[in-house]
Amino acid sequence: MNDTVASFAHDLRNKVNIVIANLELFEKKMESGLAWIDTKTYFEKSTKTLLTLTEFLDDMVNHHIEVEVSLNDLIIKAIETFKMSPLFIDYQVIASPIVTVNKVHIDRVISNIIQNSIEQNATSLQIILRKNSISFHDNGGGINSEVLLKIKSGSKASTKTQGHGLGLFSLKDLCEKHHWKLELQNRSRHDCHPVKNGLFIMITFPKPASHE
Ligand SMILES: Nc1ncnc2c1ncn2[C@@H]1O[C@H](COP(=O)(O)OP(=O)(O)O)[C@@H](O)[C@H]1O
Ligand SMILES: [Mg+2]
Repeated sequence: MNDTVASFAHDLRNKVNIVIANLELFEKKMESGLAWIDTKTYFEKSTKTLLTLTEFLDDMVNHHIEVEVSLNDLIIKAIETFKMSPLFIDYQVIASPIVTVNKVHIDRVISNIIQNSIEQNATSLQIILRKNSISFHDNGGGINSEVLLKIKSGSKASTKTQGHGLGLFSLKDLCEKHHWKLELQNRSRHDCHPVKNGLFIMITFPKPASHE
């Protein structure tokens, strides 16, 4: 399987997992006799994810095309997808840059960063969008140093039984393609109680196309 096909398979799995998680939560509620409370939300959420999935499949057909995208719009949409997860996303918008990029690629990269924080059992993910950068900082304990070294050297690495290590590999690939600077490091989240280590990801794009 080549990397592109594997990346698409990875994304499809992430999105399908969201729908499965929702349906499982719903099933649990049904068993406890409380399904009527949130029934509408669970179904709306699943439908929305499936709609994103069809958009994603459309985009896949145009996977080579680069367009101007608002990072703010993209992040809002990604956060919406993870609304039912236990992760609190603290999103701060200082500026709203527009970048010329392949939508499928960047959507995949952002969704994977959020998904990784959830899989790491982080309770909080801080996302800050600035004129020339975007940063992500969770409190999931930080990344394994061997995995970090591998990713920095351009290899794929995963500590998950079903993981492929494609998400961060794809992030590095995206940054290299656009000559964006990528920083990956473990840092403490001092705004959390108790203070916890987490993965800090910062992407700096020297020349965003414009600002909204
Ligand atoms: N937020 C995070 N905190 C700690 N470790 C992380 C985080 N994100 C990624 N990792 C580590 O990096 C590895 C690679 O992540 P990724 O490329 O998304 O692939 P996958 O999620 O399929 O394992 C993960 O298996 C995990 O060990
Ligand atoms: Mg991942």
